[in-house]
Amino acid sequence: MKHTDIADILSGKISAGKEVTACGWVRTARDSKNMAFLEINDGTSLKHLQIVIDKNVIKNNDFMHLGCGVKVCGVLVESPNIAGSLEINASEITLLGDCPADYPLQKKRCSMEFLRSIPALRVRTNMFNAVFRVRSVVSACIHEFFQKRHFVYVHTPIITASDCEGAGEVFKVTTIGYNPAFKSEEEYYKNDFFGQKAGLSVSGQLEGEVAAMGLGKIYTFGPSFRAENSNTPRHAAEFWHIEPEVAFAELPDIIEIAEDLIKHIINTCLSDCAAELAFFDKFVENGLIDKLKDVVSHQFGIVEYTDAIEILKKAEVKFVYPVEWGEDIQTEHEKYLTEQVFKKPVFVINYPKKIKSFYMKQNDDGRTVAATDLLVPGVGEIIGCSQREADLTKLLNAMKEKNMTTAEYEDYISLRKFGSVPHSGFGLGLERILMYVTGVSNIRDVILYPRTAGDIR
Ligand code: 4AD
Repeated sequence: MKHTDIADILSGKISAGKEVTACGWVRTARDSKNMAFLEINDGTSLKHLQIVIDKNVIKNNDFMHLGCGVKVCGVLVESPNIAGSLEINASEITLLGDCPADYPLQKKRCSMEFLRSIPALRVRTNMFNAVFRVRSVVSACIHEFFQKRHFVYVHTPIITASDCEGAGEVFKVTTIGYNPAFKSEEEYYKNDFFGQKAGLSVSGQLEGEVAAMGLGKIYTFGPSFRAENSNTPRHAAEFWHIEPEVAFAELPDIIEIAEDLIKHIINTCLSDCAAELAFFDKFVENGLIDKLKDVVSHQFGIVEYTDAIEILKKAEVKFVYPVEWGEDIQTEHEKYLTEQVFKKPVFVINYPKKIKSFYMKQNDDGRTVAATDLLVPGVGEIIGCSQREADLTKLLNAMKEKNMTTAEYEDYISLRKFGSVPHSGFGLGLERILMYVTGVSNIRDVILYPRTAGDIR
């Protein structure tokens, strides 16, 4: 269907006086005695295009319904009411698809909860138009960041036989359900599709490390799955995961890459998504643009885990979860550290080894690992990062301590035998960084079809 995008029409690419054809869905419809007015939107812009209808010229009015799809032909003219704005004096309007009066998106603003219940229609709102445009721009700029720095984009498997994080949050992949006819779990798995236990990948890291040990610098960008039963605003069962892995890199090197990536994402949004950020600043988080500008103009904080615990212990706040060396830093603690103490993104480094994954490099103190989480105000953890344990004996010991079956990690372990070198990597959750740059506070609102515990459609 030949027509011009509303984004192009409103950008001034086409001069007033020219004939144009535009398509869109009706956002507003106003009727008066001799004239009628439509505002239409085709998804290419947050702005609507005004259509002016002279009832002596256009005799049909079957398109005067919110939500219906139309094609409009007419002359582009300067708006007499809004300086610098363009509108169409319609000569012909074709109804492409009618919409009944019970169209759920009426003019008034709908709550995010209500919009979640109509995923097929919420993309027609400005809110979700802005969210998904930013999601698209951010995805593209992440590729750009790595491609310009000699990283190879690798596609790691979605079905795997290992649990990278060792937290047992793996969705099973099976073609036969378990039943009591099997004498043991082992027999059940033997009869299953792969002849052994298989699940959806929680992270592409282990295979990413294999790739980095030949390609030097790699990144993955794909879905990860977590069967964690946590019903929070920042956890999804399916999320998009960016995982760079870098050979010949130690913890400070990978921290530098992580900070550069986050700043690159924010700078790209500030330059390429100005209208969307202005929208979020007005309707979602007042001061968002200033916050983002501030973030890119300062260095991120770095604090030792041990010092962070001391800060939390001295805080004049009653936390629900205990603050003790050796315990995990909970959401409430992350909030305090980022929002009250540092007031900017902060890397917490060198965590106790007993609360972190088996693959992390063990520090000389014998009790911590060279790992870091990047915490940001408002969202909490957006990056999990570490230098990897390159020493075979230490790696095997860590696996033993965590009661892991080494047979499931043969390839991974073999890397430590053949030219093992220092290397590091991190995982960034796409949805978490989107929440940070848009101010949207629930992960369900930055995913087209969110999957969370107890909820799928
Ligand atoms: O800290 P995580 O679990 O680290 C890993 O998966 C490592 N293998 C990464 C690596 O070193 N290559 O997860 C990394 C990030 C988190 O910081 C968070 O942004 C995101 O992945 N993430 C989730 N996002 C949404 N929903 C969930 N359930 C998430 N779990 C992790």
